[in-house]
Amino acid sequence: MTRSHDPIEPRRVAFLGLGVMGGPMAGHLARAGHAVTVYNRTAAKAADWVAAHAGLTVACAATPRQAAGQADIVFICVGNDDDLRSVVLGEDGALAGLKPGGLLVDYTTASADVARELALLARARGCDFVDAPVSGGQAGAVNGVLTVMCGGTPEAFEKMRPVAMAFSRAVTRLGDSGAGQLAKMVNQICIAGLVQGLSEAIAFGQNAGLDMKQVLEVIGKGAAQSWQLDNRGTTMVDGQFDFGFAVDWMRKDLGLVLEEARRNGSRLPVTALVDQFYAEVQALGGGRQDTSSLIRRLR
Ligand SMILES: NC(=O)c1ccc[n+]([C@@H]2O[C@H](COP(=O)([O-])OP(=O)(O)OC[C@H]3O[C@@H](n4cnc5c(N)ncnc54)[C@H](OP(=O)(O)O)[C@@H]3O)[C@@H](O)[C@H]2O)c1
Repeated sequence: MTRSHDPIEPRRVAFLGLGVMGGPMAGHLARAGHAVTVYNRTAAKAADWVAAHAGLTVACAATPRQAAGQADIVFICVGNDDDLRSVVLGEDGALAGLKPGGLLVDYTTASADVARELALLARARGCDFVDAPVSGGQAGAVNGVLTVMCGGTPEAFEKMRPVAMAFSRAVTRLGDSGAGQLAKMVNQICIAGLVQGLSEAIAFGQNAGLDMKQVLEVIGKGAAQSWQLDNRGTTMVDGQFDFGFAVDWMRKDLGLVLEEARRNGSRLPVTALVDQFYAEVQALGGGRQDTSSLIRRLR
């Protein structure tokens, strides 16, 4: 389903995790007219977010449980599987506060296993769960044009889709619980090999004495074009990497991919190699740098 600008009825929602992605996503929900209660582990960030959205219907909660108690839909965007369990489960977790009929929607890039596990636990309480990892990066979150890959029941998906359109270009159901996370893994496999290819091409061109910005502009109009070339080519030529999607997160994602591949019998030789190359970038101190810093190994 692609972007629609039809106004929808304001909903009571919660947002857990106001990081690089979650902060702007929650902002779009508030500006779309929804009543948004936020929770963040570092409480000062939640207070700052509420102050930055003064005048809209926003509030801050001390625990995920408290935030979920104010909401029909709880959106989540934290780091990994363990972080996700820590905000959903337990005495102070969102599931303890959510009323029957409530819905959890998780934007974290996590495993398909944790999505299936949390969906079962949610359903046992009369609630539901949709895994909804995103593509589009920080700029996609800020500009409200994320691509969202969803797994869950058709009913749960139809409930979250119109609300999630506040920060999305496209929100699509790809199957039952876990399907969103599996689709995101496909996305990361595509990107890993591509960024290595782009790194080799740019390093080769520079070693050959070419004006690589000019070369990228030319080949970007032909069959070599890609999102990575368009959005990262110039900064790779200049050696600028202090922005964007962190290498640490990419290694987390590739770890999920390689584990799933072992299970389903897929052979991913290039992805496994690029994962090791990213480990070298981490060893160079680049864990928080953008994934395009893969080219650093070649310099
Ligand atoms: N950044 C991107 O370009 C991008 C693109 C696509 C997908 N993603 C995925 O989106 C997710 C979030 O990424 P991000 O860049 O927004 O990360 P981030 O800026 O590091 O934010 C992570 C958020 O999770 C919270 N958190 C972490 N561990 C927690 C725990 N144990 N309990 C409670 N809260 C916890 C953090 O709280 P504190 O403030 O207290 O640390 C913070 O609010 C990741 O799964 C990432 O792979 C990111």
